[in-house]
Amino acid sequence: MHTLLFATNNKNKVAEIQSLVGPDFKIITLSEAGIDIDIPEPHDTLQENALEKASVIFSMTQQNCFSEDTGLEITALKDAPGVKSARYAGEGRDFQANIDKVLLNLKDIENRTAQFRTVICLLWKHANNKLQTYYFEGICKGHIAHVMQGEKGFGYDPIFIPEGSDKSFAQMNMEEKNEFSHRQKAVTKLFEFLSSL
Ligand code: IMP
Repeated sequence: MHTLLFATNNKNKVAEIQSLVGPDFKIITLSEAGIDIDIPEPHDTLQENALEKASVIFSMTQQNCFSEDTGLEITALKDAPGVKSARYAGEGRDFQANIDKVLLNLKDIENRTAQFRTVICLLWKHANNKLQTYYFEGICKGHIAHVMQGEKGFGYDPIFIPEGSDKSFAQMNMEEKNEFSHRQKAVTKLFEFLSSL
């Protein structure tokens, strides 16, 4: 059994990822590891932020760990909010304010194409003690609805409709969302890689 620390404080992400993990892996959350810090996300790319989060936790614990950073990329807004998705409407990281800003910025715009993109960064110490960094990406294409739909999930879920569905992520239960989700695709790649070690 492999034990892996997941460098996040986001309970929704932990629940989504735990529902995908097989019996060979045990995911430990930061709170389970007794770590209570707000990990910085200061960079301009998802990749750099994911590396920052994993590196902070690895340097504190010396344990194999992974982190993920996700952004909503809206074509008509030149891929904004992107790496700034959590703080699009300000430092308060308010989901409703972020959604309101997206809907306002897309008012009267016909092209609603968007995608969620997740980058996972894994820091893995091999048997010979060599520490290596690996990245895994997952993309979910879709579009932005004109109004909020549904109450499940988190973040931008009420306004994101994935390709192949007419429901928003917030109208789906976790299993349905996982069939489409960016995070699920990136996590699947991560666990395929770990299973091959
Ligand atoms: P983070 O920086 O990776 O924690 O995520 C940035 C922001 O993207 C979050 O605060 C959410 O607003 C949004 N987000 C990330 N993943 C999802 C998702 O699966 N659905 C909806 N919004 C998400």
